[in-house]
Amino acid sequence: MKRKYLVLFSSLIVLIGLVFVVLSLITSRNYYAEEYRPQFHFSPEENWLNDPNGMVYYDDEYHLFYQHNPHDNEWGPMYWGHAISEDMINWEHRPIALEPDDLGTIFSGSAVVDWNDTTGFFDGEEGLVAIFTHNGSGQKQSIAYSSDNGRSWEKYDGNPVIPPHPEINDFRDPKVFWHEETEKWVMALAAGKKIMFYDSPNLIDWNFMSEFGEGAGAQGGVWECPDLFELPIDGDPNNTKWVLQVDIGDGAIAGGSGAQYFIGDFDGTTFTSDDEPDHINWLDYGADFYAGQSFSDIPDEDGRRVMVAWMSNWLYANRVPTEVWRGSMSVPRSLELKTTDDGIIKLFQSPIEEFTKLRDKELFKIENQVVSSKEAANLLDEIEADVFELNAEIQLDQPVDFGIKVRISEENEDETVIGFSESTNELFVKRSQSDELYFSPYFDGSHAVSIDDNKIIKLQILVDKNSVEVFSQNGEYVITDLIFPRDDSRSLEFYVEDGEITINSLEIHSIKSTWN
Ligand code: FRU
Repeated sequence: MKRKYLVLFSSLIVLIGLVFVVLSLITSRNYYAEEYRPQFHFSPEENWLNDPNGMVYYDDEYHLFYQHNPHDNEWGPMYWGHAISEDMINWEHRPIALEPDDLGTIFSGSAVVDWNDTTGFFDGEEGLVAIFTHNGSGQKQSIAYSSDNGRSWEKYDGNPVIPPHPEINDFRDPKVFWHEETEKWVMALAAGKKIMFYDSPNLIDWNFMSEFGEGAGAQGGVWECPDLFELPIDGDPNNTKWVLQVDIGDGAIAGGSGAQYFIGDFDGTTFTSDDEPDHINWLDYGADFYAGQSFSDIPDEDGRRVMVAWMSNWLYANRVPTEVWRGSMSVPRSLELKTTDDGIIKLFQSPIEEFTKLRDKELFKIENQVVSSKEAANLLDEIEADVFELNAEIQLDQPVDFGIKVRISEENEDETVIGFSESTNELFVKRSQSDELYFSPYFDGSHAVSIDDNKIIKLQILVDKNSVEVFSQNGEYVITDLIFPRDDSRSLEFYVEDGEITINSLEIHSIKSTWN
């Protein structure tokens, strides 16, 4: 009798185990496999995402918080979603970090490591402090702290630490850092069409210092999500400049929202820009790179300044044709200041080197080949790819237009063109032909940037299920655009119009999914 029960019991256990294995196989196959779901970009499991928030490195972990509506896949009551990574590439979803309360919903902000317990929150130890905007009756700045590596957060009971501004309604998105020379915390805060700077000894008591922005740069919309950091010029630590990154809600280079930056000096009190007031530096020439924020506290031995931005645009963010989730982040980018041949200091961006470990199969490789229009047309005939990286160096021996079409469908209804037009000297991304365009009148079109030195065009192109990021001339020019092609649009085509070019190198790798 006993034996019979034992056999029955063990069979039951085996059966449950089998069901579990089958179920997890089914779910893992469907995980992050919905139409348009990014395979190597961060997106939430469900519902709405916008700005990256609270980006900080602490105890071998990168933290990414983000503007999140957990109830719907449209913008709504804002929470801070949370994810953790060891390499900024593979992310683990964590429970929501900050929820709305009596003071309001939780808008954008930053996080720092309070190494010396300046706040007194950590009993003389160290801990994480988040500084964010409470959006309730008026916008005010508040703080929260975590003693367990960001796993749980306590809001400060004296919130807000900066009350609403009596005259300025748009008063938000605090980015805080420790200013080494003057040994204090500094906050950059978006206020209307300006940035205001505050300082504090303890992240609790804040004092207004100065403002920047009257009549400077692009002014087509309110200023949002500032970031301020110091970078070496051409890698020389003894020769540095400060970069003030500012997003504008409307009127950016590709229409709608976008990111600009100023290069100048910050003395602990005031930021002064080196640019003429009417000069605009765009961070990205595409339509979908917004609210970028750089990680705080990346150790000096590493020394990088790494930025992540929201890949969307307020013109149509609420309408993009994804279900289940809506919104994703750019690939993390390493930022550097470099002097160009014309003697101008510019911000260069490149995907972080950790990205290269996602390279999978080499799908194509050629070197030193002269290619005519006719040869170009068949060059990539054998290749099919939807999630991939393309690296190329093209030499223009004569003035010709050339480019690469990606995500082409069988019947040619879909294609996204990444091209160079010799007559206008412009590199462009044209996304006017893809399956789903009609969700917004603002989505259709082409986004371009004029290239200074056009004899050799270098391209690093990252293509995911619903985006292209084009880095050109070693990251001097970047175009980031969302696309919505059919899932089986996987062909590629190289084109050269009326003439020949020399392909110094052209390599294509498929890219592994980070979401299996
Ligand atoms: C930028 C922004 C921020 C604000 C947040 C609200 O995209 O408008 O200024 O804090 O989004 O979600």
